[in-house]
Amino acid sequence: MENVSHRVAAELSPLKGKDFLSSSDFSRDQTLALLELAIQLKNGYRRIDLGNRVLGLIFSKASTRTRVSFQVAMARLGGQTIDLNPQLTQLGRGEPLKDTARVLSSYCDALAIRTFAQQELSDYAYWTSIPVINALTDLEHPCQALADFLTLKESLGSLEGQTLSYIGDGNNVANSLMICGVLLGVNIRISTPKGFEPSSDFIDKARSLAFSNASIEVSNDPFESVQGSNAVYTDVWASMGQEDEQLKRQKAFQGFCLNEELLAAAHKEAIVLHCLPAHRGEEISETVIESKSSRIFQQAENRLHVQQALLATLLGGL
Ligand code: CP
Ligand code: NVA
Repeated sequence: MENVSHRVAAELSPLKGKDFLSSSDFSRDQTLALLELAIQLKNGYRRIDLGNRVLGLIFSKASTRTRVSFQVAMARLGGQTIDLNPQLTQLGRGEPLKDTARVLSSYCDALAIRTFAQQELSDYAYWTSIPVINALTDLEHPCQALADFLTLKESLGSLEGQTLSYIGDGNNVANSLMICGVLLGVNIRISTPKGFEPSSDFIDKARSLAFSNASIEVSNDPFESVQGSNAVYTDVWASMGQEDEQLKRQKAFQGFCLNEELLAAAHKEAIVLHCLPAHRGEEISETVIESKSSRIFQQAENRLHVQQALLATLLGGL
């Protein structure tokens, strides 16, 4: 175990003080080491005390898992979080980001930010001297992807050469899954209705990061996409900020519900993943969420372990 810890620390130590804005910010080896550290923390083989460090949470969108798992992760590391609800700070009254960011970076040791535009996150990273973590933007959800691949690893043993099919909207969750997946050697198949595919620029970027022969395939046929897959993943059809499109999307996404019939077309031992919150009867059926193939609640728990590993890494606790 000591050797493992040394190897993990050697791999992760260059990330001290860095930002985590995208799944592409970490190399394959760093991502694998982070998952290994998360497993050590989860199993109780490692305890890390950061000593009174403070993580500021700037969340412009709702959250249960991300917010609470960051709060608990900091508590377990001997630190704390403060809630910087933008509606209750001067940000809500128009104080410029560049002023807020510089002030907050003299009080906090890191910031976890959930917002709309990825550019806003990059602006925080530019104006602060402390690590900035992407807690979800319209473009990416990289902390989620870490938990997703930890869950896949726990269920399937190894990652390289596995195939994960994502059914639904080509959104933030799909984008981070593509990058993190191919970095780890997982083949990713994305199936969306026409017009809801991830952007071709993003697909190209993800392909350029692929380890070994890991592939990204994009289709509009969910049954074809899940054939022989080891994991089937879905997410809501209308993300936060797209509430006005809910009805239009419900029509466009007919045939893309992850139900028993679709799951039956995957590998017989395929696992089911969903980042949650779920809309039962839309993107996923009640039976599939509650089926023995579902790893959805293990996946939600893993948010805590990967984020504890992430905070320990960025705040230099290794
Ligand atoms: N999966 C996820 O990010 O959940 P929350 O929106 O509850 O944080
Ligand atoms: N795609 C969803 C993920 C929620 C965790 C959203 O952005 O609302």
